[in-house]
Amino acid sequence: MKRRGQSPLTERLKMINQAHRKSPPSEPVQTWLTLPRGNKLVLPARFRHENVRAADSLVEYCIKEYSVEGQVVFDPFAGYGTTLVLAEELGRRGYGIEFSPEKAQYVKGLLADPGRLIHGDARKLKEYDLPLIDLCLTSPPYTHRSDTENPFVDYRQKGFAYSTYLEVMGDIFAQVSEKMNPNGRVVIEASNLKKDGDVTMLAWDIAREVSQVLRFEGETIIGWEEYGYGYNHSYCLVFSKP
Ligand SMILES: C[S@@+](CC[C@H](N)C(=O)[O-])C[C@H]1O[C@@H](n2cnc3c(N)ncnc32)[C@H](O)[C@@H]1O
Repeated sequence: MKRRGQSPLTERLKMINQAHRKSPPSEPVQTWLTLPRGNKLVLPARFRHENVRAADSLVEYCIKEYSVEGQVVFDPFAGYGTTLVLAEELGRRGYGIEFSPEKAQYVKGLLADPGRLIHGDARKLKEYDLPLIDLCLTSPPYTHRSDTENPFVDYRQKGFAYSTYLEVMGDIFAQVSEKMNPNGRVVIEASNLKKDGDVTMLAWDIAREVSQVLRFEGETIIGWEEYGYGYNHSYCLVFSKP
């Protein structure tokens, strides 16, 4: 059999790879992980139809990776309080904001210091009295690009555009940036979304929008046995203060 020589493309790739090997390693983030889903706290029956919680494994990983004991971990979309509860358990000071009065009341009942959960609106973040944030760790409310309900008011108002969603996200994280320790990190867990044959590039759009106000450090791909939205992976988008 005739032995073929390497193509110009293969040669070029080899050269590029060699050049990369000479540059110093600069990998501030783990680039992929596989994690188990699940939460050790059992949600009260009244909330079980809407279990949108981040997995304990992911929250624990991020808290340990991006903060140390005693630091402030903040979640502007606190939901059922996974970030705050695990932050407290891991010796950090967990703070958060939650829009839904029912969820806010529930989370307050889980915390040693209920005052650290603000029943409020992340869009007005700068109005709240918060300590300097070392780690902002969150999973935002999701929306498809064809949806018209406003996710920032519990999907209760219509006439909302995806472009506005992205602008609001940018504005919220600009406010987070102002309250951050200069060495702090922001980690946003998000996924792209498949629906009716259409893909909303939610994670990538959030990364692009938030990178206008924070420095994008990179992403960690999280592989899950089960996820949703047509995927079994999500992204942890990691940012620092510019
Ligand atoms: C994906 S869930 C967060 C889940 C949370 N990480 C957990 O593990 O429970 C997003 C949350 O953001 C809340 N939310 C939506 N708009 C908000 C706003 N304007 N201000 C604060 N919270 C908001 C929703 O009520 C929802 O609980």
